[in-house]
Parts: sequence; C-alpha cells; structure tokens
Amino acid sequence: MNLWRFPLADAIAIHLVNAEKLQTDHPDSVAWCQASGFSGQAGSLCLVPEATGKIAKVLVGSPDSLDAWTLAALAKTLPVGTYALADTFSDSHATQLCLGWQLGSYTFDRYKLTKVGLLPTLEAPSNADLTYVKAAAEATYLVRDLVTTPANNMGPDQLEETARSLADRYEAKVTVIAGGDLVIENYPMIYAVGKASTRAPRLIDMNWGNPDDPKITLVGKGVCFDSGGLDIKSATGMQLMKKDMGGAAQVLGLAQMIMEIGLPIRLRVLVAAVENSIAGNALRPLDILTSRKGTTIEVGNTDAEGRLVLADALWEASSEDPDLMIDCATLTGAARVALGTDLPAFFCNDEQVTATLLKASQTTDDPLWNLPLYAAYRTMLNSPVADMNNIASGSYAGAITAALFLQEFIQPGIPWVHVDFMAYNVRSLPGRPEGGEAMGMRALFELIKQRIA
Ligand code: BES
Ligand code: ZN
Ligand code: ZN
Repeated sequence: MNLWRFPLADAIAIHLVNAEKLQTDHPDSVAWCQASGFSGQAGSLCLVPEATGKIAKVLVGSPDSLDAWTLAALAKTLPVGTYALADTFSDSHATQLCLGWQLGSYTFDRYKLTKVGLLPTLEAPSNADLTYVKAAAEATYLVRDLVTTPANNMGPDQLEETARSLADRYEAKVTVIAGGDLVIENYPMIYAVGKASTRAPRLIDMNWGNPDDPKITLVGKGVCFDSGGLDIKSATGMQLMKKDMGGAAQVLGLAQMIMEIGLPIRLRVLVAAVENSIAGNALRPLDILTSRKGTTIEVGNTDAEGRLVLADALWEASSEDPDLMIDCATLTGAARVALGTDLPAFFCNDEQVTATLLKASQTTDDPLWNLPLYAAYRTMLNSPVADMNNIASGSYAGAITAALFLQEFIQPGIPWVHVDFMAYNVRSLPGRPEGGEAMGMRALFELIKQRIA
C-alpha cells in the first residue's frame, strides 16, 4: 500500500483549503500562491517551498463536501516522498480519503517495458480504517487488472484460474463445469453461447464460509470477448468488448473483499465464463434453446448473449434459496444510453434492499441508480414460437427488458439485485484511471454487511 500506518517525522503536511482558509490559515503563503495561480479552487494543488527550496507544505483546494476523490489525484502528482494530513477528519472521511489515495496509486503496466517507479506515501490518519481500505483497494485493483487485460490473455480459462487462486488464498472451494459437460450437467445456454470459441465455455462455482451463516450468492457475466456472434457488432461497437467479463471481475473482486474482511456469510460465486465467437457451429439467430429452467428461449439476437448465460447461472443460484442474490453484468448498451458510463443501473425486487443499497452507494462514494422492473414491459419479450425471446420487440427500455428477462430465472421471494454497468472508465478521473473499473462494488459490500448486521 502507498499508505503508512505510523507517524513519520519528516512527513510533509497536506492542508485542505478554500479561498477563505487560504487567507486566514496561511497568510505567509498567500503571495506565493497568488504567484503560482493557486486560489484554493477544488481539485487544484500548490507546493509551498521553504527558503532552502525544500517543500514546506502542500495546499490542496477542497470541495465543499469531502469525498473519496478529494486527494485521489495527489497519489500520482506529488513528488515522491512522505506526506501527512494536517487536518483532522471524521472516521469515515479519514477512511474515504485514504481509499481515494490508494485507488489513485493504481497503474496497469503489465505490457509496458518501463514500469512505474516509486510513488508518494501518505501517513494515514490514526482513525482511518486501513483494513477496509486495503481490502477495498486490492479488490478494485483485481477488477481493474482483469478487465483491462486484453481478451487474448483473458479468456474463460483465466477467469477460472483467478477463481482458483482466490480459493487457495481464502480456503474456498471451486468446481468448474466446462465444454460438453455443460450440456450433460444441464447448462444448455452457457454452452450454446460459448461453443463457437476455441476456448471452452464454463461455469465456475466458488463456495466459502460457514454453511450456517446467511447465504449470499453472487453471479457474474463473464463474456471474455463479445463479438456479437453471427449478429456481429460494428467495429466501434466491438472495440471495448474485452470488458464484457466485467461482471465476473466485479463479483470476484467483491468475493475477495468479503473473504479478506471475513464477513460472517456463506458465500457462493457463480461465473458464467464464455467467449461470444463466430464459427460454423455458432449459435444462430432464431435458434431455440431450452434453458436450465426448462423453458424455451428464441434467440432473437446472438448479441444478447449475456442474459442467456446469466439465466442458467441465476436459475442454479435460485435453486438453493439464498438470502440474497446479486448479479453484475455489462448487460446492455441501453443502460449506458440512459445513465452514461459512470453510473451503473441497478434493478431490485425488494424495496428494503433497494433503499439500503441507495444509501450505501452514498456513504461509500460509489454511485448506483435504481431503474424499475416494470412488469408491463414483460410482454415485449413474447415469442411467437418459444416461451420467451432473448430480445424485446421494440427498441425502447432495453435495460429494463433485459432485467425482466433475468427476473424470469429468479424464484419469487428471493431478494435479488441486478447491476447493469460499464466496468470501464472511458476517461481518467481522479483516482479512476482510464480502463477497467469496479463500479458499485463497495456499495454492494456495504449492502451485504448491513443485511447481516
Ligand atoms: N455486452 C453488450 C452490452 C454492452 C454494450 C455493454 C456496450 C456496455 C457497452 C451486450 O451483450 C449486448 O450486445 N447487448 C445488446 C442487446 C441487444 C442486442 C438487445 C445491446 O445492448 O445492444
Ligand atoms: Zn452482446
Ligand atoms: Zn455482452
């Protein structure tokens, strides 16, 4: 970590200021700040030197209300050295500020000959919860690494390896059903979507914790590359589709966070890992599949593959009657049209869970927006020849109809959250570099914590 637990004698002080505080608390530095164009504006930064030229202190423009991102840009912009916060903060602010610093220290340099060198270190305020910071940051790093790694090095086999190494680390159990065994074990839609790839489709099943604790099951869409299948995507539409396993990455990250902190739950993680490829044996438009549930699904579009693989995994998850089910998926472009790339949509069949998750998204600086499971749109999924179509008849409300499709595979009465998200920063923001990203993961962790409290 780029955070230090103990006081450092020579740490350089970081002061959060606004225009007013700059005048009142730092009168000797006002001239220097003016000369360097620093007025205390939120997000701006000024290094104030001693007479010798060494850095005396750092002034940082503070937003009106602090959040995790307030210091996040500093981790990459300050000169290498040790720093400490001059101000005191509430426990939650201290924790969030440290988390932002740590998330801002991330670099993806797997493919670079020249690696990023030393970074500045922050002396964490004594009231910051560094156990949480470490768990959340490491989980986020895992999600980012998995999503940013290109599809040639991140197939269903690598997702399996990731689950196995997590299982080794936290004494979990992993079983995998792959290739033709998916048909034998009745996961026909996972098989159908993934069969055209040279890399075998699989269902990864990880179990951890005490069987007597509340059962929480996470399900992830692990489409390691989404070409669209025979309903092939355009070049621009396909460009970012290495990230279509973002849901799998996020549930693996969330699982790591849960196991690292040791939440008293019985955790199950199901990852449907496939590649949506094109070959002579590929799934075709208007093929009819029989789902694990036993209902028939007409394939209106081979590019709506995520809901097919999730359906089989969700039905299996449902069969155990867990206390809470959460799925994460880069499921629809429509959710991005509605909310943009930074704001995940979530759907939920339980009002209390919805309220808790919305609150959690605020306290963790991890935004999520609630969209409705509007039942009247269910008829848009009707098929003339099968029990259901995998695409809606119209082009409106695509995120809702996708969620309604998934809901068909959740046994009534099981509280269920479906997250439809981008899993990718399309541009860099403080603490959130361009590339793969966990979105809503910390909020989901908080939801789980509160459900078992
Ligand atoms: N992986 C895509 C969804 C996606 C696209 C997420 C872009 C984020 C950004 C998914 O498999 C897909 O292709 N969905 C189609 C569904 C349509 C055929 C009903 C879509 O959203 O266009
Ligand atoms: Zn698709
Ligand atoms: Zn997809």
